[in-house]
Amino acid sequence: MSRFADQTVLVTGGTGGQGAGHVRALHAEGANVVIGDVNAERGAGLAAELGDGARFVHLDVSREESWVAAVAETEKTFGALTILVNNAGVQNPPALIESTDAATWARILDINLTGTFLGIKTGAPALRRAGGGVIVNIASTMGIGGTAFYAPYVASKWAIRGLTRTAALELGRDNIRVNTIHPGVVATPFITEPAAGSDAPIADFYSPEPFAVPRLGQPADITALLLFLTSPDAAFITGAEYVIDGGLLLGPALQKEAA
Ligand SMILES: NC(=O)c1ccc[n+]([C@@H]2O[C@H](COP(=O)([O-])OP(=O)(O)OC[C@H]3O[C@@H](n4cnc5c(N)ncnc54)[C@H](O)[C@@H]3O)[C@@H](O)[C@H]2O)c1
Repeated sequence: MSRFADQTVLVTGGTGGQGAGHVRALHAEGANVVIGDVNAERGAGLAAELGDGARFVHLDVSREESWVAAVAETEKTFGALTILVNNAGVQNPPALIESTDAATWARILDINLTGTFLGIKTGAPALRRAGGGVIVNIASTMGIGGTAFYAPYVASKWAIRGLTRTAALELGRDNIRVNTIHPGVVATPFITEPAAGSDAPIADFYSPEPFAVPRLGQPADITALLLFLTSPDAAFITGAEYVIDGGLLLGPALQKEAA
């Protein structure tokens, strides 16, 4: 299938658990893919594996000059940028707000929020040059509720929602749609590896068992939604938020034995 044959997609965090899945699927459906990440080894490996139509660019989303270079490289290599996926994100080491140092706060906001802002700022003119396109920002269910010990991350993901809605209003008449995906807990290094040092990874203390769909999300679950939102099937959708969490935000499911 070549649903994305005429498209060039830049995926930030494109070597991560979800990002690499998005990159592979979009490439398989005909898109040119630009893998933007700070992990050069994984990025070069993925680009080599995919071959034609794939390129790695070293992109630190928190730095404006890095964005300018990545977008320029994308246009130089593939002629245009039509889809931007602001997927790069990092989690803070768990801590109460009163124990969170300002440097940690700033680092999480720089990557998750400023990184998304800079992506829209730098990517929108390129999408406009291409005649229009799509931006998808990856937030989190933690951007909908509160979560103890994760204030920097929660705040960064909440803020992405306001940024998305504002960008959708500013860019709609340029034929650019902007939407947000809110994944629940997805099986990637993000939850299986500690955010710092010897901290317990999220997978050590989170169980999906109480929820309506009692399993972890898989990257492919999120990719399926991303492909829909970036395809022409979603042409009337902008400024919208999609929760994809197996019922996590609903709270515990009715236990059969209690009925
Ligand atoms: N896994 C989950 O449970 C979960 C749940 C909700 C939302 N999310 C969000 O999904 C997105 C993808 O996460 P994932 O699960 O694939 O995690 P991951 O840790 O596997 O991947 C994150 C990627 O971001 C890259 N990255 C980190 N800092 C960067 C920077 N400054 N510039 C560019 N790239 C950078 C990393 O190198 C890595 O490739 C993130 O925004 C995350 O917040 C994840």
